[in-house]
Amino acid sequence: MQTVTYTQIPGLPEPKRGKVRDIYDLGDNLLIVATDRISAFDVVLPNGIPDKGRVLTQLSLYWFDRTRHLVPNHLISAESDAIAEAVAAAGGQVDAHVREMLDGRSMLVVKAKPYPIECVVRGYLAGSLWKEYVRAGGREKPVTLHGIALPAGLRESDRLEEPIFTPATKAEVGHDENISLEQAVQIVGEVARELARLSVQIYRFARDEAAQKGIIIADTKFEFGEKDGRILLIDEVLTPDSSRFWAVDDYAPGRAQPSFDKQYVRDWLESTGWDKTPPAPELPPDVVQKTSEKYREAYRRITGREL
Ligand SMILES: Nc1ncnc2c1ncn2[C@@H]1O[C@H](COP(=O)(O)OP(=O)(O)OP(=O)(O)O)[C@@H](O)[C@H]1O
Ligand SMILES: [Mg+2]
Repeated sequence: MQTVTYTQIPGLPEPKRGKVRDIYDLGDNLLIVATDRISAFDVVLPNGIPDKGRVLTQLSLYWFDRTRHLVPNHLISAESDAIAEAVAAAGGQVDAHVREMLDGRSMLVVKAKPYPIECVVRGYLAGSLWKEYVRAGGREKPVTLHGIALPAGLRESDRLEEPIFTPATKAEVGHDENISLEQAVQIVGEVARELARLSVQIYRFARDEAAQKGIIIADTKFEFGEKDGRILLIDEVLTPDSSRFWAVDDYAPGRAQPSFDKQYVRDWLESTGWDKTPPAPELPPDVVQKTSEKYREAYRRITGREL
């Protein structure tokens, strides 16, 4: 099956390449292209995953549409013609090959001024916050982490009484660091309180909708930007790359949950004894294929549509 793991558009400057996405600066707008690259343990793997980029983009589009009553977002268009036009206007050459490369995986968006914090919302106790909870002694006594009071005796992956806003710094290198709302206010100003309110509201809405469709969105990360004095929801939203997705059927607190999308990849990598430093080993075809199917399944469950 064909994958797109690297993009280039003749006539345009090199994009900014993240682990997964290639971002082209078109002046007032950006073109965000989700490739089929996949990372595990923070390392980009040599294989692409068929359909992964399209799933990420189509899920973002789905949620941008479903949440526009809560917050305006950066989307201008994901239509092939509109994208081709914008790329051409910025000096890029769009032939049939480039169109095919971009199709279904690209979003033309308004370039905003990103607020330099990650707006993380958690509905379940997992990942870095679970680690901090254990370290602080939460299994024996109530603890306060980054200004948030948590009861004693929660288990790993337990559902929290109420979703919590646990922002993080945007680290240029290394890992993002969890911070309190008050620290977020120090970084971006009073607007942090509004970002917190919006983040929790969007998360609640999506969590409730996804849960009815068999997917637990355990936590998620939003980014916001400012444009003409307005707050816009930017980046990708409520995708398996920006969130923890768990299958409702397999959910059992008291342990780490299998990842809806990346579990085959993680299990296989663990089985090889790879030391988690680059380069990562090449995934076998059945792991690639099963993982591709998990992304399509996530899309199918949430949207009710086939990719
Ligand atoms: N509408 C927008 N306006 C301005 N910047 C945006 C917009 N949407 C997304 N961005 C920015 O684009 C960048 C996306 O980068 P991307 O997530 O692909 O890579 P990264 O964050 O550098 O690395 P990683 O792959 O580890 O996440 C983010 O910094 C995000 O803030
Ligand atoms: Mg990113």
